[in-house]
Amino acid sequence: MDDFNSLYNFVSGPLVWVAFIVFICGSIYRIYRLFSLVNKKEKFIYTIMSFKYSLRSIIHWIIPFASLNWRKHPVMTVTTFLFHIGLVIMPLFLGAHVILFNDAWGISWWTLPDGLADTVTLIVITCCVVFLLRRLVLREVKYVTTPSDFVLLAIAAAPFITGFFADQQYCNYRFWLILHILSGEIVLVAIPFTRLSHMLYAVFTRAYIGSEFGNIRHARDW
Ligand code: HEM
Ligand code: HEM
Repeated sequence: MDDFNSLYNFVSGPLVWVAFIVFICGSIYRIYRLFSLVNKKEKFIYTIMSFKYSLRSIIHWIIPFASLNWRKHPVMTVTTFLFHIGLVIMPLFLGAHVILFNDAWGISWWTLPDGLADTVTLIVITCCVVFLLRRLVLREVKYVTTPSDFVLLAIAAAPFITGFFADQQYCNYRFWLILHILSGEIVLVAIPFTRLSHMLYAVFTRAYIGSEFGNIRHARDW
């Protein structure tokens, strides 16, 4: 039992700090690297960039069904949007998390009602199952899928599955909570160093594609 307690203290104490520091410093480094590579190799990109075309593209892609690609794949569109909305609001607005931010830094903000938190969690888990089935079943997707896609999906799903079990308190609360905190830490550390870094790059990618289409091809990119 003592070992269990010291494991809990370690995972919920120093390891949270390590995860946040790696996440923040790693993310800053990745964005810095992106710009330094552009400066070194493809400086002409700045001549293409346009605020108007960037914003136009970002707005079209951030609204469900506003782009042709979203309309062509309705199931994937709904799944992607629900998944990402849950992924952003749960870490930031779950009551249990905000309490932890408050304990650490004395700041707090609006929180999701508890009943809604369970629903959002189950929706995100369902979305992960849809992503998984899509990769297992659709031939054209299966063809380009590698084991790393499943690993990344598991990394993204794990905090939701473990968080849900911890919250239900069916059995062994501490066990699920330790797994939950560990899985949350893995997500944070994985964001700068895996393809989950699309979170950091998405805005720049869209801005670039939007500007290239608008300024050079004189076409829409949605
Ligand atoms: C890394 C630090 C993290 C810590 C210390 C932490 C801590 C907690 C705690 C204490 C709970 C409450 C369990 C209960 O109800 O008693 C919880 C629940 C939860 N957390 Fe986290 N968490 C972390 C990261 C994350 C991340 C990154 C995500 C999502 C990507 C996440 C998603 C959830 C979800 C979905 C629940 C369950 C909500 C429900 O079903 O009501 N957590 N977390
Ligand atoms: C907040 C900024 C983010 C944006 C704008 C974004 C955008 C996207 C887009 C456009 C897709 C492709 C969907 C498709 O193929 O139709 C995607 C897929 C995905 N994203 Fe994100 N994302 C963000 C953050 C995250 C984070 C923080 C995670 C995980 C922690 C994540 C996990 C995933 C996963 C697992 C998939 C792919 C599912 C699959 O095809 O197997 N995303 N994201």
